[in-house]
Amino acid sequence: MSKLVHAQWSSKMTFVLAAAGSAVGLGNIWRFSYMVGDNGGAAFVLVYLACVAVVGLPVLVAEWLIGRRGQKNPINAMSELAHKRGQTKAWALVGVSGVLAAFLILSFYSVIGGWSLSYTLNSVTGAFTGQDADGVGAIFSGLLSSPGLLLMWHTAFMALVIWIVAQGVTKGLEGAVRTMMPALVVLMLMLVLVGYGMTTGHFGEALAFMFRPDWSALTGGVVLAAMGQAFFTLSLGMGIMMAYGSYLGEDVKLLGTARTVIILDTGIALLAGLAIFPIVFANGLSAGEGPGLIFVTLPLAFGNMTGGMILGLMFFLLLTFAALTSAISLLEPVVEFVEERTPLTRVVATVAGGVAVWALGIAALMSFNVWDVPILFGLNVFDLLDTFTSKFLLPLTGLGAIVFVAWVLDRKSVASELNLAGGTEQLWSVVARYIAPLGMLVVFINSLLG
Ligand code: PFF
Ligand code: NA
Repeated sequence: MSKLVHAQWSSKMTFVLAAAGSAVGLGNIWRFSYMVGDNGGAAFVLVYLACVAVVGLPVLVAEWLIGRRGQKNPINAMSELAHKRGQTKAWALVGVSGVLAAFLILSFYSVIGGWSLSYTLNSVTGAFTGQDADGVGAIFSGLLSSPGLLLMWHTAFMALVIWIVAQGVTKGLEGAVRTMMPALVVLMLMLVLVGYGMTTGHFGEALAFMFRPDWSALTGGVVLAAMGQAFFTLSLGMGIMMAYGSYLGEDVKLLGTARTVIILDTGIALLAGLAIFPIVFANGLSAGEGPGLIFVTLPLAFGNMTGGMILGLMFFLLLTFAALTSAISLLEPVVEFVEERTPLTRVVATVAGGVAVWALGIAALMSFNVWDVPILFGLNVFDLLDTFTSKFLLPLTGLGAIVFVAWVLDRKSVASELNLAGGTEQLWSVVARYIAPLGMLVVFINSLLG
């Protein structure tokens, strides 16, 4: 039993930093920009912003609330809370699918974390200095075409993650969060890069690409991609925010905290877009470049601006830190799952879970070279892992969380826990009960129909 009584976050600030540490990562810079490019720009961006506000915020609050109430890992929290309300323990499935999602996501996330590590080294050696688009493209394809190099960097990244998580929540997680607070400096570096974008003469084009929508580009698939990105970037639908919520003191205001985390996360993503697309247009690159987009654009900026070497080094180092704090939060639920179901100690459970993730990551990294073949629905392993989790598992798990809070938990107690009264309570209730879940269902059905 004592295992289940959690220590609480030493302060509210630590909680916000940990939640932001999980949220802010490769999703904001790497994934956001390539999704925007792949999905036609502004229409995607605006739908994404709507998804963050209408679905992301309520689901984030719902996950924290479940975690704080349940005081357990997500699976036990859901099943016990459900049981108390006379509902089936099948709600635990929501937790299980979250752990599965975290496992699958970390496998390919670590591959990209490896790219970021490799680019940190490239910055140190001055590999980008004076390069043009072709030169930078050659550096990137050199990395992608080598399974050995990719494996080395993926292994290095995963080893760091395992090492940090093995140390346990208080030492590992909080400690990592504190020492990695500089990852917030990413925000400032993004501002510098946006400044560079303004000097390229193509900033207006980038602005229009990101914010002047061509609604004809809007398909069911684009909307689903935008919703998936909202879940991915906010670390939703994985039980992670639930697990964090279980460490959360009663005094922390959920809505206000959610707003802070969301503004930070969304702000960094939008700045990343404003930094990257001017470079795309100025160099005649393709916005729909895919997962390599930031790795063939940003080095051009760093290689051709004053002080670019040191800025590039700082950028890729901090991007790696931000990726690490997110990756730690992805491994955590997997480890807890193993720990509670086996007699393994934390360290062994961490190594076992981490190695399993690492092994799947090898299949993901081979998708860029020797195994670039469709294995299901015309997708290779990497794209399949990314698509299946972000467009399917995460939203579905999130749907479970919001429906649970809005329909299964007692409405009055939820209102008091969120400090809601009168009109705001009604607004919350309409959004959480109807708008968010129905909106998500419509998005699913719409994309299935084509
Ligand atoms: N939200 C992180 C990012 O934007 O990079 C990625 C992530 C972390 C996704 C944790 C999911 C998660 F549970
Ligand atoms: Na994010």
